[in-house]
Amino acid sequence: MDSITNSIKKRDHDPKISGRAKYVDDLRFEGMLYGKILRSTIACGIIKGIHIPDLPSGYTIVDKNDVPGVNIVHVVDDDTPVFSDGTVNYVGEPILMVVGEDQKVLKQILSEIIVDYEEAEPVLDMMKSETVFYHYGYTKGNPEKAFREADKIIDETFHTGYQEHVYMEVQGMIGFYENGKSIVRGSMQCPYYVHTAVKKVMGAQTDQEVEVIQEEMGGAFGGKEDYPSILGSQVAVAAKKVGRPVKCVFEREEDIICTSKRHPATMRYRAAIKDNRIAAIQADVVYNCGAYTTLSPVVLQRGLIGATGVYTFDNIRVEGKGVKTNTTPNGAFRGFGGPQTFFAIEMFMNHLAKEVGSDPLPFKRSYLSKQGDTTATSGKYHFYIPMPEMLEKILKASDYERKYESYKRQTGRYRKGIGLSMVYHGCGFTGSGERDMIKGVVKLHKNVNNTVEILTAGTDMGQGLKTTFSKIVAKRLEIPIDQIIIRNPDTDRVPNSGPTAASRSLMVVGRLLDKAALKLKECWVDEEEQEITERYVHPDFVIPWDLNTFQGDAYPDNAWSVNVVEVEVDTLTAVSKVIGAWGVYDVGTPIDMAIIQGQMQGGFLQGIGYGSIELMDVNEKGIIRNNTLSDYIIPTAMDVPHLETDVVNYPYIEGPFGGKGAGELPAVGGAPAYVSAMESALGKNLYKTPFSQEDAMKVLEEIKK
Ligand code: MTE
Ligand code: MOS
Repeated sequence: MDSITNSIKKRDHDPKISGRAKYVDDLRFEGMLYGKILRSTIACGIIKGIHIPDLPSGYTIVDKNDVPGVNIVHVVDDDTPVFSDGTVNYVGEPILMVVGEDQKVLKQILSEIIVDYEEAEPVLDMMKSETVFYHYGYTKGNPEKAFREADKIIDETFHTGYQEHVYMEVQGMIGFYENGKSIVRGSMQCPYYVHTAVKKVMGAQTDQEVEVIQEEMGGAFGGKEDYPSILGSQVAVAAKKVGRPVKCVFEREEDIICTSKRHPATMRYRAAIKDNRIAAIQADVVYNCGAYTTLSPVVLQRGLIGATGVYTFDNIRVEGKGVKTNTTPNGAFRGFGGPQTFFAIEMFMNHLAKEVGSDPLPFKRSYLSKQGDTTATSGKYHFYIPMPEMLEKILKASDYERKYESYKRQTGRYRKGIGLSMVYHGCGFTGSGERDMIKGVVKLHKNVNNTVEILTAGTDMGQGLKTTFSKIVAKRLEIPIDQIIIRNPDTDRVPNSGPTAASRSLMVVGRLLDKAALKLKECWVDEEEQEITERYVHPDFVIPWDLNTFQGDAYPDNAWSVNVVEVEVDTLTAVSKVIGAWGVYDVGTPIDMAIIQGQMQGGFLQGIGYGSIELMDVNEKGIIRNNTLSDYIIPTAMDVPHLETDVVNYPYIEGPFGGKGAGELPAVGGAPAYVSAMESALGKNLYKTPFSQEDAMKVLEEIKK
């Protein structure tokens, strides 16, 4: 291993490729029973009565009355019930679990249970919701004055839809209760989140009464950040009641109905234009949280911080609300609140460019943030922002400027379009989260045989953490990678290094491992057992973050990207296809080029899916209409266009070997690049994502009129 960027075989490659890796669905334990959950069929109401048929012997009902501690799953705030407390707030809300040996019998029992509801009118439209869970805002400069003195004011509203994670492996957990201890194992991003939640639900007095073990994970994308705390609590309660292991693995439809998704958003943007320049921007953003708060406050915060994108404006006003609706609670999804507002600002900038008689690219370029600039939240861009170099690369690779010009005046049935987006993703937890909330701890344990075990709570969901962590430690210790041991985390064995989310693991936890390895190297004694503990220290250059005013450095550094998408539209059928996609990324030093390339390509495609075909619809009863993979469509291998991804390499001083947050960045810029390309092809301003073929048809019909 010469340069850390050079790729090695992934450490989990062999078991996964050979099929030997065991996922939660593969695991069997002695005496293990199954659990299936009865879910609300209405979006809003009160449960008047539940009629349960005579149960065959060995079958048990588990509900709120069986919760030994508090019937609430702790996420950020405390409002999500483990099992319904008598009210239901969305279709799919868990009411009770039936536990027993045979899954067919469980289904039969579920179908025979009758629930009497007193239905109430559900709130489904986020703009009509009167329950505001979260409300934040911030100001920079004097936007009021700028709006007062404007030559003109441009006012537009943007909409973004749901996005379903469609991790290959659905959610699943197994609960145990042994000698007064609850053990939960399964598919999860954040073992310590599950630990905290289960402890509260089980009424456990000490940390030792709960153990959480992560099993091999078939993808997560943010969808296994909060939800495993809910399912983990449910199986823990069930296992205690029946005294045997209880496994609950969802079917795809159930997974789609009741697990979190990306928040739909409605975003009104206003710009004050003076002398053909933007004097101020005001953004008023609404995120649809669904029925409970789960991760919404942090998702919304990230969305608001990024509301003015990669640009520096002197005068800004941003306001955002997270509102309740009677729909499935929404949560984390790669990009974590960013893709919504980045979509809006990128489209808005396209439109403003036209307003002042410019093309999007030169217009956007003239507002690009630079090192030393004041951020939207009055923090500072501390480091060099390599956007000019990244733009140069992408313009050359995609031939954007020539194509954009030549696609302006097209006639004929098939028309091409090309669009460009620029985005960033703030690295790590927002604000002072790393310092005040997470306080990450890692350990390195050296065995007598000189192998070194990495002990963190970090989970590998496909983003390659086992490999990148191993590389960092091996390289720092200057020992072969085979001497490094890394297992799936078990809270009995690993310290709380924080959640695997916010693209923080590689950068923040990786950095702690790097420091620990350096210490171990300095005190290394051959054939002796040694252990090093390393704790998070906040970088001292950071301007303190104040959540009340949204002022300060929201992130110590950002990861940047530029994206170009080229499309061809059949103006007769409105069928469009992506004919080219280019992405250039700044993720510090790539810790493993194949992993980084895989992250960038997969994320970009996910972003294009979000912008084009991933349409999820909730009907007037609050029921998700497309709850199978034959009607919720995501890009498959067949849909991968000509796709080129490239990186620039500017090491981040606080990251391991210069690496920084990478995992989420590529999912942010795909949708605005795609919809911008559609805008270029259709010659019309567009305002929504997904921009589906039906949407294209509507625009084409308008043009014909
Ligand atoms: N890549 C794969 N293959 N599978 C995933 O589930 N999750 C993404 C991203 N890349 C994901 C993925 C999300 S949501 C996050 S937050 C980051 O990986 C986590 O990166 P980290 O390990 O640096 O924290
Ligand atoms: Mo990622 S959405 O922060 O799990």
